[in-house]
Amino acid sequence: MNIVWATSEAAPFAKTGGLADVSYSLPYALAENGHHVSVFMPYYPQIMGDRCNDTESIYDLLRVSFGEGNEENASIRRHKINGNLTFYFIEYNRFFDRPKLYDWEGNAYSDNAERFIFLSRAIMQAVLALDLDVDVFHSNDWHTALCSVYLKSALYNSQSNFRQTKSVITIHNIGYQGVFQKPNLYWTGLGWEYFNVNCLEFYDQINFLKAGVLTSDMVTTVSPTYAEEILSPEFGFGLERALQHRAVKGKLRGILNGINVQEWNPETDKLIPHNYSAKDLQGKSRCKYALQKEFGLPARPEVPLYGVVSRLAHQKGLDVFIEAIDEMLKEDDAQFVVVGSGELWQENAIVQYAKEYPEKFGGFIGYNNKLAHMIEAGSDLFVMPSRYEPCGLNQMYSMAYGTIPIVSSTGGLEDTVKNYSAQRIDTATGFKMYDLYPAALRETMRWAASVYRNDKPAFNKMVKNGMALDFSWHHTAVEYEELYQYATARF
Ligand code: ADP
Ligand code: GLC
Repeated sequence: MNIVWATSEAAPFAKTGGLADVSYSLPYALAENGHHVSVFMPYYPQIMGDRCNDTESIYDLLRVSFGEGNEENASIRRHKINGNLTFYFIEYNRFFDRPKLYDWEGNAYSDNAERFIFLSRAIMQAVLALDLDVDVFHSNDWHTALCSVYLKSALYNSQSNFRQTKSVITIHNIGYQGVFQKPNLYWTGLGWEYFNVNCLEFYDQINFLKAGVLTSDMVTTVSPTYAEEILSPEFGFGLERALQHRAVKGKLRGILNGINVQEWNPETDKLIPHNYSAKDLQGKSRCKYALQKEFGLPARPEVPLYGVVSRLAHQKGLDVFIEAIDEMLKEDDAQFVVVGSGELWQENAIVQYAKEYPEKFGGFIGYNNKLAHMIEAGSDLFVMPSRYEPCGLNQMYSMAYGTIPIVSSTGGLEDTVKNYSAQRIDTATGFKMYDLYPAALRETMRWAASVYRNDKPAFNKMVKNGMALDFSWHHTAVEYEELYQYATARF
């Protein structure tokens, strides 16, 4: 099949979260299975840095309608990964040559509506300019959701490149929908007839993700449990009705993400100080030692070490963690290492803890991939108290690295982690909490530490259970292929 994959970020070029990981790994896995995949994303010179040198300009003067009677010129750059997988970058510096992807100092760029309308329109134009055949057009999250609307619109539905095209949208996080003031409709080139409850209209504003959900041939999200959760008001963030509408027609599916097992493999990982495998875990103990040194903590092999790598956003529940560990820092013989960035008060709390408890708490504010790998390898336990988690990748990295995840039972965390119980030790891989408040998290963390301390055989069995699981993209790619085939045969 010929697949176009539209995204606002993809690793290793530009990444703020899991969307970027998926936008490289899944296209890669599909390409390995013989499909032709073209990934489209913005060209972000400041963010991509040296990676820019891997790209070549292949098309100047890509004309993109933008607002009534107005055309802008963009360019297309290309990076071929292999014979089946090509990345195309939309170069338009006014919108994409910025220091961060979506915001500056915590404030979303005021022209984000324009930026991603432009991106969506430019991708449509680029597909035509490059004369690509498209069987499946796969957009991701709100940033490129408008592509699904364009495909069905008179602007594009009669173009021969799109005549056979089926559209798929994947929701990676329904907490971000792209809701903007309605005058922004002007930039889309779509008439006011699209401003209705079955398309872009949402409480008198425009909502890109909603329009994508309602116009795509198939809608997916990144785990089976999340696919059910988003049908409820608690998790649907106002889109539950639109999603229910698609779900009753069999057009909503939850397909679990995989992880990049080339990058996240303790046997070969170059970012960790010692490699190891389930057969020989000595390297893991050395990684713990190195992690403790890195954060200036006493190098004690026996103390339970909890790790966190996360965006510091409401979704991730690190506010609950910060409150939960206050008592633990005073009372427990335990260590904590946190790497993250986001909400300022949480960043400050982390810095403060590191100052106050230098023997127990290590923190790093910012984005640091090497530290993320070191934490996955060097921690005993990894904490993810998410309020909601569409899939979550870190708990899978943790299991692959023999680090036991402590998670809330939501979304992909529910689907990937099997709760500890003394009776089910043969399959257990982590610790789950079913209520999210500080005392519950604290007790779950202490529960995990007591198994670590007092029941080594059970703990080690869980380590091995997790390391034996296969989280590779292979399974995910097969499910997407099946979905694409269903869509192309069916509609
Ligand atoms: P989300 O996309 O919601 O943030 P995921 O678990 O799907 O959550 O993916 C997060 C990805 O971003 C993981 O690859 C994780 O290691 C990485 N990550 C998050 N914060 C940081 C950070 N501060 N430094 C390095 N990597 C980070
Ligand atoms: C989002 C979600 C995360 C998911 C990722 C990739 O950022 O928050 O749970 O793993 O997308 O699909």
